[in-house]
Amino acid sequence: MNNLTIEELLDKYPFVTGYFDENKIDVSKYMDRTFEEYLRDISDEDVENWAIDKDKLLEDLEIYIEQMVEFLGIEEEVGVNSLTILSGYDKSGIKEGFDEITINKSEIISIVGPTGSGKSRLLADIEWTAMGDTPTGRSILINGQQPDKKWRFSSNNKLVAQLSQNMNFVMDLTVEEFLELHAASRLVEDVEDTIDRIIEGANNLAGEKFDLNTPITALSGGQSRALMIADTAILSSSPIVLIDEIENAGIDRKKALELLISRDKIVLMATHDPILALMANKRIVIKNGGIEKIIDTSDEEKKLLKELEKIDKTIQEKRNLLRDGKKLSII
Ligand SMILES: Nc1ncnc2c1ncn2[C@@H]1O[C@H](COP(=O)(O)OP(=O)(O)O)[C@@H](O)[C@H]1O
Ligand SMILES: [Mg+2]
Repeated sequence: MNNLTIEELLDKYPFVTGYFDENKIDVSKYMDRTFEEYLRDISDEDVENWAIDKDKLLEDLEIYIEQMVEFLGIEEEVGVNSLTILSGYDKSGIKEGFDEITINKSEIISIVGPTGSGKSRLLADIEWTAMGDTPTGRSILINGQQPDKKWRFSSNNKLVAQLSQNMNFVMDLTVEEFLELHAASRLVEDVEDTIDRIIEGANNLAGEKFDLNTPITALSGGQSRALMIADTAILSSSPIVLIDEIENAGIDRKKALELLISRDKIVLMATHDPILALMANKRIVIKNGGIEKIIDTSDEEKKLLKELEKIDKTIQEKRNLLRDGKKLSII
């Protein structure tokens, strides 16, 4: 609070105007300064004349904000700057090959390793903010500290947005009903506009288009994944995004990743796909349930990524021609 300008403070906690009014404080000339700076500029004479207690005003403001936040039931936004994995044990009970790994905001990390090696398990450890209480014995720290347990159970203000490998829709709802429910539970203001953006995003990812009246159960695998991804990207404010083998979903995986990755987030993605893996800054290599090593994506690999993307584009084009019943040629 002390580092915010008054403008930022009012932006974050609009009710603070009430505090200023109550105390007959006119901050209009100090919008781009902090409240402390405002107090500092009050002359000794005014302090005498008006019996002002600067320290108390500052202290009371803090208490006022705290109480209002509690009263209004506003969840403080989770400011996640880093996520740390403390090592556990592999499937044979041998300690993992590292002590701790810290992933910072805006970093994309991929997770690679054979099927059954423990990639999804690592994502689950993060989602559950493990505290030595999962089969791996790992612990997860947020901002270098043991996270609050509330994140395990709150569904609205989740720490993690996860796209799991098996996303099954069992509800008997249309796409529109599902999205309305979801948007309402997230307290979105403009529900209609949000739904439109999600549908557009999803149709951009899926091969065949669908509309709002399609029953969820009638969506193809690719369409439901596309819907889930667009929904997560647009509705979720979670600071951490976990992605489990998006490539099997029958959707445009690069577009999906671009939609999901926004600055400021921490992204972890389990994948077998070299294009997705090399889009990350680093990759965690998993073997027999344990993190074996962490590899920085090299400059050469970044160059290779460009080549792979070209090859991939060619394959996509051929796939589309094939689908349309065309004959294929060499170029
Ligand atoms: N360190 C570990 N200790 C014990 N069991 C583990 C460990 N890592 C993974 N497992 C278990 O191994 C199985 C396969 O792991 P999973 O994460 O599904 O593999 P992947 O996603 O790489 O295919 C799961 O049942 C998982 O709980
Ligand atoms: Mg898996």
